[in-house]
Amino acid sequence: MTRSEGGHPATGSGVPARRFAGRVALISAAASGIGRGAALRLAREGATVVVWDRDAAMLDDVATAAHAEGLSIDPVMVDMMQPDAIAAAVAALVARHGRIDVLVNNIGGSLHTPFRFLDQSDQDWERVMAVNVTACVQTTRAVLPHMMAAGYGRIVNLGSKAGRFGSLFAGANYVASKGAMQGFTLQIAQEFGPYGITCNTLCPGAILTPRVESLLSQRKSPEERTRMLETIPVGRHGTPEDIGAAIAFLAAEEAGFVNGATLDINGGQSMSI
Ligand SMILES: NC(=O)c1ccc[n+]([C@@H]2O[C@H](COP(=O)([O-])OP(=O)(O)OC[C@H]3O[C@@H](n4cnc5c(N)ncnc54)[C@H](O)[C@@H]3O)[C@@H](O)[C@H]2O)c1
Repeated sequence: MTRSEGGHPATGSGVPARRFAGRVALISAAASGIGRGAALRLAREGATVVVWDRDAAMLDDVATAAHAEGLSIDPVMVDMMQPDAIAAAVAALVARHGRIDVLVNNIGGSLHTPFRFLDQSDQDWERVMAVNVTACVQTTRAVLPHMMAAGYGRIVNLGSKAGRFGSLFAGANYVASKGAMQGFTLQIAQEFGPYGITCNTLCPGAILTPRVESLLSQRKSPEERTRMLETIPVGRHGTPEDIGAAIAFLAAEEAGFVNGATLDINGGQSMSI
């Protein structure tokens, strides 16, 4: 059965019932790509979603899309690379909304540094670690005391298929940073599980966001792209909606027994390579 053929029993649509009514979710770097898909998904399920991003135009765009659907999205301009910006933005969020139930550490990317290890500089390494690891660590550190006080929290970290299996596309710095996020997840899951807080890693394969589409067209020939698709058993790349659905699962109250897990979401590609 496809989604459009019957939908979810609770709503009759493709989206389950309002599992996040009354919940506040923070998604970092979420004005575009995967984060945007997740923000709209959680908001459609009833969450108030605080969207951080440094791109003002894209923040306006996601807010306009959300408001057209009557969804509750609070766009906040934050450059997460600026010192103290993250702690200040978490304090402002709590002052405005009073709680944080869900944190999606979405900020990340290969920053399009060269994929061959010997072509990467130390500066490339530092930049990629700062975006993929340090920004998420700082956000988690600022958010956790609020979740602990509430005795409830759901943290979803964005890993990557690259962090699980390596990549000849993104390179060693990105692969190591995403592996670090998986390790970080395990520690947070163990330390904070007793407070009602779960932490899991979601590892997407290639998801056709506008950025990935342009990177693939720069770095892969049409023939190589066809061969790539042939390695994905479901015969297509992923979409932000695919990842949004998986994030919604891990972020829901009902997933409270899923903790420290790694969820591969790549159409089965990891079995082919
Ligand atoms: N797209 C994929 O194929 C894919 C695959 C596996 C994992 N991931 C991971 O998923 C996450 C999202 O990836 P994506 O491809 O959707 O990202 P993206 O590059 O499409 O979007 C990233 C967003 O981050 C914002 N941003 C960048 N630097 C920022 C900063 N300093 N402060 C605030 N905002 C900032 C940008 O403005 C943009 O809106 C990342 O962690 C990525 O590593 C993506």
